Amino acid sequence: MHYPWWYVPAVTSPMLIALISVVHVIVSHYAVGGGFFLAMEVGHAYRTGNRDYLSYLHRHARFFILLTVVFGAITGVGIWWTIGLASPLATGVLIRTFVFGWAIEYVFFVIEIAAAFIFYYYWGRLPEKTHVRIGWIYAWAAWISLVLITAITAFMLHPGRWLENPTFWVGMFNPQFLPQMIARSGGALLLSSLFVYLHASLFVKESGMRDMIASRSARPALLGAVMISVGGIAWHYYLPESAKAVLAIAAVLNVFMTLIFALTVAVFVLLYLGPYRNPGWLTPGFAAALFLFGTAAFATGEFVREAVRKPYIVYNIVFGNQIFPREVAHLREVGYLEGGLWTSAYVADRYPTAMVDGAIDETRLLALPESDRIALGEVLFQYHCNDCHAAKDGYSAAGRLVQGRPPEMIKSLLLHLELAHFFMPPWAGTDEEADLLTEYLTSIAPPRPQWMLPETTKREAF
Ligand code: HEC
Repeated sequence: MHYPWWYVPAVTSPMLIALISVVHVIVSHYAVGGGFFLAMEVGHAYRTGNRDYLSYLHRHARFFILLTVVFGAITGVGIWWTIGLASPLATGVLIRTFVFGWAIEYVFFVIEIAAAFIFYYYWGRLPEKTHVRIGWIYAWAAWISLVLITAITAFMLHPGRWLENPTFWVGMFNPQFLPQMIARSGGALLLSSLFVYLHASLFVKESGMRDMIASRSARPALLGAVMISVGGIAWHYYLPESAKAVLAIAAVLNVFMTLIFALTVAVFVLLYLGPYRNPGWLTPGFAAALFLFGTAAFATGEFVREAVRKPYIVYNIVFGNQIFPREVAHLREVGYLEGGLWTSAYVADRYPTAMVDGAIDETRLLALPESDRIALGEVLFQYHCNDCHAAKDGYSAAGRLVQGRPPEMIKSLLLHLELAHFFMPPWAGTDEEADLLTEYLTSIAPPRPQWMLPETTKREAF
């Protein structure tokens, strides 16, 4: 609340984060699993003296480095940009809590990048053993990055004992750490095999070689699918109560969970029947279907993992709308507009008549002309609701959610936000501010869709 707000029309800022993150996650898991694939397979090719396979792996390494380094880095920075703008308070809390973790992560990131370039550019110029060793250094360094970042994302869902004992390691080894680490390590194995299949089906013309690639990558892929399932079940078991309840209540999440289950089964069956039992099936069409099912399951899984973080974006620490729980009482007392650094300066600048002795006088706000009251209601909306709702149209648009409701019902909902739905944060403003926001919401709500109302239930407000 002490930051300027960021409005992303229709999509909303969290959905923008979700879009970038999904692309990033799909590439970054390949960046980890692909490292194990290359190290393992280059070792195998050297041992068996298979020059053709080695030359295929060289080409694959080029594709791998281009995709993961360029795309992974761009989308990784994109995540920092969007989370910093959309959730400045939560991002600040994570940076302060995990500064040491990020320092370790950067060290491994540098090792990872250096190893990747040596592995690729010194291909054929290093002794075989050293070359394979560099491959393994890359793979393990990439995996350690995955472990560290997973610990931090897991912390947001369930910080565990950190609230009583706020130290770095307690934060890292939170209840969600192990489940998510197992699922993500499995995801890295599975996704990298799907990338390998897609690449090999398109670029390997010789069928014997394609069959060998198909069958050699089937085991890690199947192991990955099992690890995702085990990690996923543990993830659900260790969810905080509120997240479990969100999962159970939100219809769209029920559909998504079913979809994840169906897609996972489909990937498993296709992997078993295809690459594992009948490697010859690996055509571009088959590989593309596997890839699509796999990435769809992944993207849906990430969406669900993010969507259950309500009303807290960092569980029990920061609310979804960038307020610490301890601030709520104060804001209810002095007002949200007065309590915020930017909002109070904004009101003082735009509406000097509402100020008394340098502070906002709430009753004077209500005496402003209607267009000003609506404009202030919009400011309240942007701060208080924009992190989860679009305004007029778009993702979970608040205007549409209140469509057809009379103002007193809207106001009552605002004053009891956390009771109306347990996954919304509590109202953090005054009664007068609830009036302003009600006026704004009423102004953006589309008219009630007309269907015949029985005479006795007709009301003025409709
Ligand atoms: C942490 C996220 C979050 C915040 C912040 C939030 N909401 Fe919600 N709200 C939700 C979710 C999730 C729903 C369920 C509807 C959906 O899924 O689209 C919901 C539902 C609603 C509904 C429909 C209620 C009903 O009874 O059906 C309204 C109206 C609403 N929100 C208004 C607001 C307003 C106004 C604010 C700001 C004062 C706000 N919300 C803040 C997450 C949030």
